[in-house]
Amino acid sequence: MTNASEIKLPENIPEHVAIIMDGNGRWARSRGLPRMAGHRAGVDNLRRIIEAAAEYGIKYLTIYAFSTENWKRPPAEVKGLINILEDVIDRELKSLDENGVQLRHIGRLEQLRPELQAKVKQAIKITEENDRLILNVAWNYGGRDEIVCAIREMIADGIEPEEITESTVGRYLFTSESPDPDLIIRTSGEMRVSNFLIWQGAYSEWYVTKTYWPDFDPEELLEALNVYAQRERRYGRISGKALPR
Ligand code: FPP
Repeated sequence: MTNASEIKLPENIPEHVAIIMDGNGRWARSRGLPRMAGHRAGVDNLRRIIEAAAEYGIKYLTIYAFSTENWKRPPAEVKGLINILEDVIDRELKSLDENGVQLRHIGRLEQLRPELQAKVKQAIKITEENDRLILNVAWNYGGRDEIVCAIREMIADGIEPEEITESTVGRYLFTSESPDPDLIIRTSGEMRVSNFLIWQGAYSEWYVTKTYWPDFDPEELLEALNVYAQRERRYGRISGKALPR
């Protein structure tokens, strides 16, 4: 494990980092292993990245674990990924809780069997007082689906059109309790948003690496933080350096 006291952290650590954990299948194939071995290695890596994120002072970590489109994968892989969700709760909850991690879920739980839904909700309840790191697990999550859900709820709540502002929409998203991500990381080199945080990521900085997710280690997370620290976030304005005197 890395020791934050021995490493040099940049000054402006992003408050919220979101990760598209891509490349598990290719990681497995490159080793002649079945795809599920890649996902299991992905979980092992997730454990060390959660620890590192907390040590580096990141307050919110959002991970894309299962998208609304992932149901189209072969049934055995879908089943395996659902089993991983259950295993992570069974095996990791105690340690996450002891390490001050607060678990949250974004997406839709309805498609899971009722006992597993209850298990996820119980895990969220058990860790709700923790505040060292907020871990948003995007499971059965899709950005477009999230916006559709928000529109439906706003209509159901009788919100008038003129009352709808960007902040109203933000309050109806699954992420209403989290700030927008400052930095989005995608592993395995793909240059796609893949329906991830499409509203919230409007002004996020991106870090894309060719490294497959199981190999994305705390050192590379630190590298991503260093790259982020060099970025100038302009939010549509001109560069601070180019401002007229
Ligand atoms: C993308 O790799 C990865 C996924 C769709 C699953 C990611 C899930 C985990 C790492 C497990 C974490 C789960 C929980 C519940 C916390 P890919 O399969 O698309 O890789 P490929 O593009 O190389 O085929």
